[in-house]
Amino acid sequence: MAQRTMRWRVSLCVSVLCLTAVLGQVSYSIPEEMAKGSLVGNIAQDLGLDVKRLRSGKARLHTGNNAEYIELDRERGALLVRERIDREALCAQTMPCALHFQIILENPIEFYRVTIEITDVNDNAPFFQKDSMKFDISESATVGSKFVLERAFDSDIGVNGLQSYSFHPTDNFVLKLQGDRDGSKKVEMVLEKPLDREQKEQISLLLTAADGGEPRMSGTVQIHVTVLDANDNAPLFTKPIYKTSIVENSQRGTVLTTVKASDVDVDLNGLVKYSISSSTVGVKDHFDIDEDNGEVRLIGDLDYEKTRHYEIDIEARDQGGLSDSSKLMVEIIDVNDNKPHIDLMSTSSSISEDSSYETVVAVMSVNDPDSENNGVVKCSISEHIPFAIQSTANGFYSLVTDSDLDRERAAEYNISITCCDEGVPSLSSSVTLTLHISDVNDNAPVFERSSYEAYIVENNTPGLSIFTVKATDADWNQNARVSYILEDSSVNGVPVSSYVSVSADSGVIHAVRSFDYEHIKDFHLCVKAQDGGSPPLSSNVTVKIMIQDQNDNAPQVLYPVQTSSSLVAEMVPPSADVGYLVTKVVAVDVDSGQNAWLSYKLQKATDRALFEVGLQNGEIRTIRQVTDKDAVKQRLTVVVEDNGQPSRSATVNVNVAVADSFPEVLSEFTDFTHDKEYNDNLTFYLVLALAVVSFLFITCLVVIISVKIYRWRQSRILYHSSLPVIPYYPPRYSDTLGTGTLQHVYNYEVCRTTDSRKSDCKFGRAGSQNVLIMEPSCTGTMQRIQNEKNILDEPDSPVEVS
Ligand SMILES: *[C@@H]1O[C@H](CO)[C@@H](O)[C@H](O)[C@H]1NC(C)=O
Ligand SMILES: *[C@@H]1O[C@H](CO)[C@@H](O)[C@H](O)[C@H]1NC(C)=O
Repeated sequence: MAQRTMRWRVSLCVSVLCLTAVLGQVSYSIPEEMAKGSLVGNIAQDLGLDVKRLRSGKARLHTGNNAEYIELDRERGALLVRERIDREALCAQTMPCALHFQIILENPIEFYRVTIEITDVNDNAPFFQKDSMKFDISESATVGSKFVLERAFDSDIGVNGLQSYSFHPTDNFVLKLQGDRDGSKKVEMVLEKPLDREQKEQISLLLTAADGGEPRMSGTVQIHVTVLDANDNAPLFTKPIYKTSIVENSQRGTVLTTVKASDVDVDLNGLVKYSISSSTVGVKDHFDIDEDNGEVRLIGDLDYEKTRHYEIDIEARDQGGLSDSSKLMVEIIDVNDNKPHIDLMSTSSSISEDSSYETVVAVMSVNDPDSENNGVVKCSISEHIPFAIQSTANGFYSLVTDSDLDRERAAEYNISITCCDEGVPSLSSSVTLTLHISDVNDNAPVFERSSYEAYIVENNTPGLSIFTVKATDADWNQNARVSYILEDSSVNGVPVSSYVSVSADSGVIHAVRSFDYEHIKDFHLCVKAQDGGSPPLSSNVTVKIMIQDQNDNAPQVLYPVQTSSSLVAEMVPPSADVGYLVTKVVAVDVDSGQNAWLSYKLQKATDRALFEVGLQNGEIRTIRQVTDKDAVKQRLTVVVEDNGQPSRSATVNVNVAVADSFPEVLSEFTDFTHDKEYNDNLTFYLVLALAVVSFLFITCLVVIISVKIYRWRQSRILYHSSLPVIPYYPPRYSDTLGTGTLQHVYNYEVCRTTDSRKSDCKFGRAGSQNVLIMEPSCTGTMQRIQNEKNILDEPDSPVEVS
């Protein structure tokens, strides 16, 4: 104990009191906490009393109610510490602290006052009533804020009492004492440096109170400061700019990214809510942010072709109202969702087949709004057509011809243009344009055969169609309209057009005249087929017309010559043998073939049993022995027949005389003189003819004279007036010339007009007779008409063909 080493001091104070009973007063001063039995003072000596007196007087201490801390040792006459004295318990803070008691003696009664002052010993450390102190201080507390601390207590007094405080650490706070120096009044903690909860949430401080004793004693208390949050921190985004990308056409609800802002504050001050602050048009229609967790979601449809990126301004705000902003850059990734778009800017609906190489047929623009490969377009057209597609400029294409066109091969093309992009999978679109190839006259008409042969039976009616040639032209319309033209040539020196005509439209070859096989057997003609193009193209073909024979000629007997006289006769000697060749009938037939194949037959004979005629050779031979009984005058009629169908025949009379010499025969034959009546008839006819001719002559003479007189009078009138000439129709024309000749002319006219107009043979119209009639000679008129009739019959005479 500190008290053991304590220096104590006894102060003796003797004071003589005036009281009768009180003989004296003694004061001592001892430190507290002295050990039991320690000497306080030699009271006997100090009071001047003998130890014996103490014993005899039965000296004792009188303390009243006070505890007996002190005892009296009568033997030694000393005051001793009976019990440990604690000044603090005895006097607390009262100063000075003293024990007051009396020493009472008997025999005589005497008493003495004793005062023992207890002096303080530093036996108490300062102490705090609480183990710890707790403070909740907002971090926003301003510098200079004061916080009252609990004071410490020290039971000791004076120097041994509480002397000072110390405080540790002093990072944020300093200690400030107010009032008494010993700090008994007020201990305060002053904020010197602002608090930051985010830095240090709990601060532990140690407050130490120390006294001034020797050795110094101290007491401590823990101060716990909890720094309360203040919304002094704004939320902070983890990045100033966020970047993300999303494919277009993504589903709604897709999370693009999650933004994060942190707020070091706690509770509401640190509760961050996210929002889109962007006012850019469209952003809020497309994106939404979860206000709690910062997930940015798609709520609209994205189309790369409309917007390729978005900038979203986002804001994070804590509940204290502090905020931070950031930006989210959203790149839209293209998806191949657009077909190439083909725009035909200009097209030709038709193109000439002779168009040159690389003629532009169509121009188009192709675009694909997708990006990169999704927007790279390639165009192609169907294969095996004479067109190609060329890329002219970026996105522009032209369709050109790349080889020769031929309308006759293909008159129309359906050109299908397909454009596809290079996306995966690739999208494509196509258009089809129909191109007509217009015709150019590049094909000549072609005859079906390289040459033709045609047959016509002679004696045909003029205008008969013989044959039809046909040529086709591969071109179109007017370029394919074929006309047939008879090429000029001559047959036997006569233009071929006088033989045949060709119908320009139909290619029908008509006979212009009646053919005579005996005159011409065949001839060639050349027909040209020409199309209607410009310039026209043509080709020609040779047609061989062969005239077929008809049995139109009867056989002609050359021998024996037929005369009116029957005096010519063949002689057969009476001695002639069987098979004697009497004569040979010689006949010819100008027809040919079967039509000219002659056979001979005996038609009539004086004696049929005597002669025969060779069927083939016309030889007349005897078939039996001629006898004297046979008549001298034999008459045979031989018929010569050709083999035509029907056959034609001629007869010949052969006189045969069975005699040895001619004079013998002559007498027999003279009575052959012909019938007198035949001569009489002849004479009659001659007279009649003479009469008729005379009558006609006179009639004509009268007519001529009448006409002459009429003309003379007419010319006189015309001389004086300007009247038009009125053609004169002889009043008796029809009567005088009523032979049917004029009618004949009309007949031809009608006959011709029924035929093809091209092959029409035009003859002098009946109207032209008006002029002819003016001729004074009626014989001239007849002559003229007769000539026209002859034209048809004579092949060599020219025929007028229009
Ligand atoms: C082209 O198309 C049209 C209509 O589809 C069709 O009538 C015609 O026959 C086609 N032409 C060719 C050459 O394919
Ligand atoms: C017919 O055509 C041939 C060639 O095909 C030509 O040589 C000839 O001259 C033509 N004849 C006539 C009469 O045009």
